[in-house]
Amino acid sequence: MLENIQALLAQATEEIKHASDLNQLNTYRVHYLGKKSPVTELAKEISRVPVEDRPRVGQSLNEFKRAIQSLLTARLDLLQSLDIEKTLAKDRIDVTLPGRGHAQGHLHPIAITRQRIESFFKGLGFAVVEGPEIEDDYHNFSALNIPENHPARAMQDTFYVDDHLLLRTHMSPVQIRTMKNNPPPLRIIAPGRVYRRDFDVTHTPMFHQVEGLYVDHDVSFAHLKYVMQSFLNAFFERDIPVRFRSSYFPFTEPSAELDVQCTSCYGKGCRICSHTGWLEVVGCGMVHPNVLKEVGIDTEVYQGFAFGFGYDRLTMLYYGVNDLRAFFENDMRFLQQF
Ligand code: DAH
Repeated sequence: MLENIQALLAQATEEIKHASDLNQLNTYRVHYLGKKSPVTELAKEISRVPVEDRPRVGQSLNEFKRAIQSLLTARLDLLQSLDIEKTLAKDRIDVTLPGRGHAQGHLHPIAITRQRIESFFKGLGFAVVEGPEIEDDYHNFSALNIPENHPARAMQDTFYVDDHLLLRTHMSPVQIRTMKNNPPPLRIIAPGRVYRRDFDVTHTPMFHQVEGLYVDHDVSFAHLKYVMQSFLNAFFERDIPVRFRSSYFPFTEPSAELDVQCTSCYGKGCRICSHTGWLEVVGCGMVHPNVLKEVGIDTEVYQGFAFGFGYDRLTMLYYGVNDLRAFFENDMRFLQQF
């Protein structure tokens, strides 16, 4: 009997020492100390042991239980601390690793251009004003001296909302709104989105224009020339050659178009400038008396100049981008270059 207990203890010791996880250890605990354990079985047989040996056998059985209990506790401690070490190793935070940082966005190239334009004109005392993108026929056309049957009103250019409302085709209607609501002197620019039914390498149905307006006593074409040349020098960050060509706009008289020397070939002639050496960038002129009269400004006292230009085009020239559509496709590979 004592030998059996010894053998059992040896086996249990071996097994418990090799228990690989808490589950297995628990199985051994139930096996060796539970109700159906071999020890319980042996205890039942104690009646068959000679009386004088019984105390020793009983003692052995108790020792066996105590030994198993302490083996289990030791193994449990070990497995638990191994577990903790494993978790610590896995969840370890290396505080010396560099941070991931925050990806920083940036302005769209056309937004950068708008800010540069605004900051130049603010420096000359111009205010930046806005107007509605959905305009009416009156502000977009009639008040700007564009008669009923003018080709600019034709369906192929204008997106009409209904008989009366349309998506503004230029920023000039903001002139009218400004002059109607504010007495001269006036110095404003109005940057914004405009819409026309057009789509190819150099045209998108939505594009951006700035309208400028200066109304005061004794305003002349010379002031206009000075402001335009200064602006273009500032924009292109060098003294850029310009030329004024006489032209026609219904809302200015006289009217001019302003060309800058080709930014690609410096006037030699290339594909970008259709071999003329010049690029048309601005429309401008002295505000037509009919327009001033329409908004109730006394043409005997006040004159004004106005100008308008697309600044997507200026952005293309400034950065050397040759397809306008790239600005509106939101391809990150393109945008990340700015
Ligand atoms: N509104 C014109 C356009 O959309 C641009 C323009 C030309 C504006 C001459 C002006 C100007 O103020 O005087 O093409």
